Amino acid sequence: MAVAASAQEGLRRYRMYVGGEWSDAASGETFESFDPYTAKPWALIPRGGAEDAARAVEAAHEAFTAGEWPGLHASARGALLRRLGDLIAENAERLADLEVSDNGKLISEMAAQLRYVPQWYYYFGGLADKVEGSVIPIDKPAFNYTKHEPLGVVALITPWNSPLLLLSFKLAPALAAGNTVVIKPSEFTSASTLALMELVEQAGFPKGVVNVITGFGPEVGQPLVEHPKVRKVAFTGSSATGARVYETAARDIKRVSLELGGKSPNIVFDDCRIEDAVKGAVSGIFAATGQTCIAGSRLLVQESLHDEFVDKLVSFASTAKMGNPKAAETQVGPVTNLPQYEKVLSYLDIAKGEGVETVLGGGKATRPECGEGWFVEPTVFTGVENSMRIAQEEVFGPVLAVIPFKDEEEAIEIGNDVVFGLAAGVWTQDIRRALTLADRIQAGTVWINTYRAVSYMSPFGGYKQSGIGRENGQEAIREFMQTKSVWISTASEVPNPFVMR
Ligand code: NAI
Ligand code: MG
Repeated sequence: MAVAASAQEGLRRYRMYVGGEWSDAASGETFESFDPYTAKPWALIPRGGAEDAARAVEAAHEAFTAGEWPGLHASARGALLRRLGDLIAENAERLADLEVSDNGKLISEMAAQLRYVPQWYYYFGGLADKVEGSVIPIDKPAFNYTKHEPLGVVALITPWNSPLLLLSFKLAPALAAGNTVVIKPSEFTSASTLALMELVEQAGFPKGVVNVITGFGPEVGQPLVEHPKVRKVAFTGSSATGARVYETAARDIKRVSLELGGKSPNIVFDDCRIEDAVKGAVSGIFAATGQTCIAGSRLLVQESLHDEFVDKLVSFASTAKMGNPKAAETQVGPVTNLPQYEKVLSYLDIAKGEGVETVLGGGKATRPECGEGWFVEPTVFTGVENSMRIAQEEVFGPVLAVIPFKDEEEAIEIGNDVVFGLAAGVWTQDIRRALTLADRIQAGTVWINTYRAVSYMSPFGGYKQSGIGRENGQEAIREFMQTKSVWISTASEVPNPFVMR
């Protein structure tokens, strides 16, 4: 079981999962995990270190090279994944409740998310036995074919905003491809990933195929990335940490995929359906309290519509109900952790210092329904210039920067003038304009007249500094495989051995 008896009364004590066994950290140390709504600890998590990382990688390596897993046919791997999907579906409410205890996101959103997560295991379970090599019509006397093989031990490092969803983006294709994994969840939200391991065990995965180590990034994440037996690192989180992971992985030529930050433009033209675009702007920045990598944090509004649109947006957003994320009617919950809360508040000061106008919010939320939690008022700044820090840097909170533009050309120029390229929204009824923007915006996802839609079937990832590689969709499984080219000579005699053939 993921939870053991706790010495500290009232706190649930979690354990790591390595080699099919539940264990404490080698040091025996733990740290507290907080509920952002109460700002109080509710669980104890093992504080892993280099020794734990090494033990988990060895277990994963053992499971990759010996035992049942390497001999399992892809169809059998697929069946295991589908069984895990069924178990997640049966436990969706419980897992969602755990996630809300740790990250304070709305139960309405997390329950829907957890009911959707099984699809990743069904889709990639189905794909496991459909990865086909090819026969190359080779220009030499030989039969040449390709096959796609797993990489080996893969490290999966995840953030706190949607722990199990973002883990599933990685775990389902990594296992479908035949790898074994070591997961390092965020230190702010480890509980649901550990609880998932009970389901991995019930599904019948061989010991060591899936391992979870917990603790802080520099203490246990860094040695995991450094371990020579790790062949790939799949990471979601901040750009700074992503760059660090990339550099570390480069030392011994590990593969990486990185899903990093964004400063996505949500672009509103004066020919849009205004009520829809207002809702799209709100869901782009206030859903999940703005703590999503795809947040539409720069709202670009055509000058001719600007004042009317901002009025409508502010009056709609100002009705948002804040409070207990476990209450069904709540619309904006707390910020997930104290450092993030402080970071968001510091950006409010930065923006004000840059001379923006605050038309909604702009500070801590002190409403009685917010209690002691880490709440920030939904905030809208107007008069923002795209060169300001509030328009260029990821805040990861409920903070919207509104930037006016004249015409299509200027919208594209401002939209692309940022180091990131994760996503973009476009609101217009003109099909020519919609397709032109879809072509010219530098982003891995472009939404036309919608925002924040994600599916297991559709590739997801970043342009520019938003990342490397794609998750979801058919190409995602190939991120966890390597191609082998096999040559069989059909020559009737061995040619000159001293020249290349
Ligand atoms: P982070 O990027 O530091 O953490 C992500 C994961 O990486 C965590 O599991 C962490 O323990 C691990 N990690 C940290 N240092 C590591 C190292 N040296 N080697 C290996 N693993 C390491 O993000 P953090 O501190 O949780 O949040 C900071 C900022 O990141 C936020 O303010 C937000 O701007 C951004 N963020 C972006 C996300 C996204 O989806 N793009 C998700 C979460 C945060
Ligand atoms: Mg927490």
